[in-house]
Amino acid sequence: MWLYLAVLVGLYLLRWWYLERQRVPNLTEKYVLITGCDSGFGNLLARQLDARGLRVLAACLTESGAAQLRAAASSRLQTLVLDVTSSQSIAAATAWVKGQVGDRGLWGLVNNAGIALPTAPNEWLRKEDFVRVLNVNLVGLVEVTLSFLPLVRRAGGRVVNVASILGRLAFYGGGYCPSKYGVEAFSDSLRRELRPFGVHVAIVEPGYFRTGMADERNVEALDQVWEQAPAGVRESYGQHYFESFRRTFKESLETHCNSNLSLVTNCMEHALTAVHPRTRYSAGWDARLHYIPLSYLPTALADWLLAPDLPRPAQAP
Ligand SMILES: *[C@@H]1O[C@H](CO)[C@@H](O)[C@H](O)[C@H]1NC(C)=O
Ligand SMILES: *[C@@H]1O[C@H](CO)[C@@H](O)[C@H](O)[C@H]1NC(C)=O
Repeated sequence: MWLYLAVLVGLYLLRWWYLERQRVPNLTEKYVLITGCDSGFGNLLARQLDARGLRVLAACLTESGAAQLRAAASSRLQTLVLDVTSSQSIAAATAWVKGQVGDRGLWGLVNNAGIALPTAPNEWLRKEDFVRVLNVNLVGLVEVTLSFLPLVRRAGGRVVNVASILGRLAFYGGGYCPSKYGVEAFSDSLRRELRPFGVHVAIVEPGYFRTGMADERNVEALDQVWEQAPAGVRESYGQHYFESFRRTFKESLETHCNSNLSLVTNCMEHALTAVHPRTRYSAGWDARLHYIPLSYLPTALADWLLAPDLPRPAQAP
C-alpha cells in the first residue's frame, strides 16, 4: 500500500519535473521587451536573456542606464528610453517596437519598472507620495500593457508582471503595497481574459532583495517624510516612536535582503521560455517559506505574527 503510494507520488513528481523543463523552440527568434532595465532585476534579466540568445528590447528610464547596459551586452540587445508615467513615451516606444518585431509580434512583455519611495506609516505621508508610486507601479504598468497587448497577442506570447510579497501582505504604509495589490488584481483578470488568445500572464512575487529599491535612500526618504509631517502627526507618534521605527526599518533593509537577484530573474526566464509557465512565482526563501504561507493565515493571526516590535505612539490612549 505505502509502496504503491510512494510510486504514484514519484511518478507525479517526475511528470511535474519533466513538464517544468520543457522549453519553447526557436527562442533566438523571439523578442522580449523589459521595462526598468537601468538596474536591479530588469538589468540582470536583460543580460541573462541576451546571453540565452533571445532578442532583448530593454527599456530604460535614462539614456545613461541604456548606454551602460548596451556596453555589457551583445550587439543583439537593443535599448530604448521609456518613462512608464508618460503616455507619449509609451506611444513612441510602442511604435518603435512594432517596427522592430514586424509580423512576428512581441513574444514577451516584462513589466518590471517600479519605485518604492517613500515608505513610511500612512499618516505621515501626503497624497502626492501615494500618487507618485501608484503612477509608476500600477497605472504605468496598466498603460504599457494595454499599449503592447496587440503585439503580444500576435505572437501568442507572455506577459510577466512583477508584483511582490507586499502584494500579498501589506505591512508597510505608503503607495507601494496598494500598487502591488493592484498589480496582482490586474494580472489575475488579464490572465483569465487572455487565455483564449493563447497569451499567458505570469506574476512574480519577490521577497526582500538587494536592488536599488532597498538601499539607504529608503531611510533618507523616511527622515524627510518625518520632517515634513504635520506637527499634530509628529506629536501623536512622538520622536521615540519615529526613532524606533527608523531603526527597525533600517535593520530590515540591511539584514533581510538577498543579494542573489538571479533567484528572481530565473523565475522571469521560466515564465518567458517554459512551455508550461506557472501563474505565480515566489522568489526568495523569505517569500516561499515565510511571507506567502503567512498570507494564507487568518488575518488576526497574521497581524499578530507581523506586528513590528515598536513602542506605543506618544499619544496612544
Ligand atoms: C523554428 O525555426 C525554423 C527555422 O527558422 C522553422 O523552420 C520552424 O518552423 C520553427 N519552429 C517553430 C515551432 O516555430
Ligand atoms: C544564486 O541563485 C542561483 C539559482 O538558485 C544559483 O544557481 C546560484 O548559485 C546562486 N548564486 C550565489 C552567488 O549564491
